[in-house]
Amino acid sequence: MCGIVGYVGHRQAQDVIMDGLKRLEYRGYDSAGIVVTGDPELDVVKRAGKLSVLSDVLKTTPLKGNLGLGHTRWATHGKPNDVNAHPHLSEDSKLAVIHNGIIENYLPLKERLVEAGHVFLSETDTEVLVHLIEENYEGDLYAAVQKSLSEVTGAYALVVSHADHDLIVAARNTSPMVLGIGDGENFVASDVPALLPYTKEVIFLHDGDLVLITNDGVTISDFAGNVIDREVSTVEWDAEAAEKGGFEHYMLKEMYEQPAVIQQTLGGRLAGNGMDVQLDIGLDPNSIDRVIIAAAGTASYAGMVGEYLIEKLARLPVEVEVASEFRYRDPVVDERTLCIVVSQSGETIDTLEALREAKRGGAKTLGIINSKGSTITREVDDTIYIHAGPEIGVASTKAYMTMLAAFELLGIWLGRARGTLADADAKELIAALRQTPKLIEEALKNRDEVAKIAEQFKNYKDYLFLGRGINFPSALEGALKLKEISYIHAEAYATGEMKHGPIALIDDQMPVVAIATASPLYEKTVSNIQEVKARDGIVIAIANDGDTEIEKHADYVLRVPETHELISPLVNVIPLQMLAYETANRLELDVDQPRNLAKSVTVE
Ligand code: AGP
Repeated sequence: MCGIVGYVGHRQAQDVIMDGLKRLEYRGYDSAGIVVTGDPELDVVKRAGKLSVLSDVLKTTPLKGNLGLGHTRWATHGKPNDVNAHPHLSEDSKLAVIHNGIIENYLPLKERLVEAGHVFLSETDTEVLVHLIEENYEGDLYAAVQKSLSEVTGAYALVVSHADHDLIVAARNTSPMVLGIGDGENFVASDVPALLPYTKEVIFLHDGDLVLITNDGVTISDFAGNVIDREVSTVEWDAEAAEKGGFEHYMLKEMYEQPAVIQQTLGGRLAGNGMDVQLDIGLDPNSIDRVIIAAAGTASYAGMVGEYLIEKLARLPVEVEVASEFRYRDPVVDERTLCIVVSQSGETIDTLEALREAKRGGAKTLGIINSKGSTITREVDDTIYIHAGPEIGVASTKAYMTMLAAFELLGIWLGRARGTLADADAKELIAALRQTPKLIEEALKNRDEVAKIAEQFKNYKDYLFLGRGINFPSALEGALKLKEISYIHAEAYATGEMKHGPIALIDDQMPVVAIATASPLYEKTVSNIQEVKARDGIVIAIANDGDTEIEKHADYVLRVPETHELISPLVNVIPLQMLAYETANRLELDVDQPRNLAKSVTVE
């Protein structure tokens, strides 16, 4: 959500910034802009729309200079147009500000500044920062930003430059930002991929950090000006891992990476005795008697699979909470509660705030997270990293897969430690888990079959997804994927719930994707499918290889290999991801950057 790149060094700033913004496109945006410190003034270009629109302008009028800031804006206050795009400049065109987040007290600040004679050009909350810093500026940019921040409330990753100074000032409160440390050059960005071609040495900023960046170095202090020593981390990802690697879209590439990345999640965590799991976490499994899982979107559906696994294997009561609701409803939490937060980015504001709410109640906390060094990983007691590598496609695929794998590991670990999972059951589950990469690979081979279904139903307006038990979350995830990237209305229900209302929707214009893989409830699922057929519904069943019975009931069958029921969500999600992808691609939609969506949602 909003991309930020700042550069000071020996290269042309425009090149570094445009390249970095391109690498941050996945975050979601609807306008873009750049400012470069020229001589004697700042040169700025801003455009609504994709980066290519901005690039076209820069081709004819390139901005020359070695210091600059760039921004991709995801609109919150004010439409996505040229004027509202960042950077915002002061009235004397000497000061430039880019910002990710929301300034909550911008209205009273604006009123005061207007009264003092400032003229606002945009509808954004960000513009108050420019006028405020301008008002506080007396020749020292760092001091002006520092003074201004004492008046501001809200969330921000803020980056400021001034025509008279060869330096950048940045500040963070809630919205993520990372510094890139180079040789005679330094960088600031909202996420690591923007930095990868230039440096792997990074510093993840914390809330309350104020930074002075020059080509020689970076100085981090708190808002009071006390210098802070922050650790430099080395990023393991390379730039290539964040590229498309010959695939048409990041989403497709990431789907095909799933057999490999799940091995990274499991790797080294399955014990040699075949029935235990090793997790490098300090949690005492007997110190808790209840689990809350808080997450958003796809991560929350992974959490629902986690609920099923932990209850079944470890006999602990689990509640899954929509993070954006949890934090506001005075939840009952105590020191015997384990709050698990699940997040690919580790920066989702709703999930982060849910974590903070749980901590206020005294809960123990555990993160299931992809991004190392992210804010959530710094605030939880322990983290299980999912090791999915960079996920660029806005529609999450491999992160979901590896979140599921992490929950499998956690469920077994808790079950073994609490004595609720017998040796034989653990062995059976772990043996099945070891087979999963191969089974996912098998499922991915059925792309052509899924593509035929996508072609046939791509112009339908509605879809229904049904699943039950541990595959009810799979149905929810299938519906979300389709909605996100194909903009087709899709709903998901627990299969047995259909007769309580949704069955009224069934007709020959409503394809119904029914998950009917091996489970003790298979027969009941088949009966529910018959109920759909009896009402002229179109049934697309997800069923196991070799299940001939299903052909008698479903109009179409998409095949997946059979596995242990508790592991089946990892395999069953493949045709669901593929259906969304093939449908959106056929509709010629922007698969990797669907409209209105952001990869990392850092505002409420
Ligand atoms: C997934 O396809 C979605 N784009 C979205 O629901 C996402 O899972 C959600 O915003 C949570 O993100 P996180 O995992 O980075 O916290």
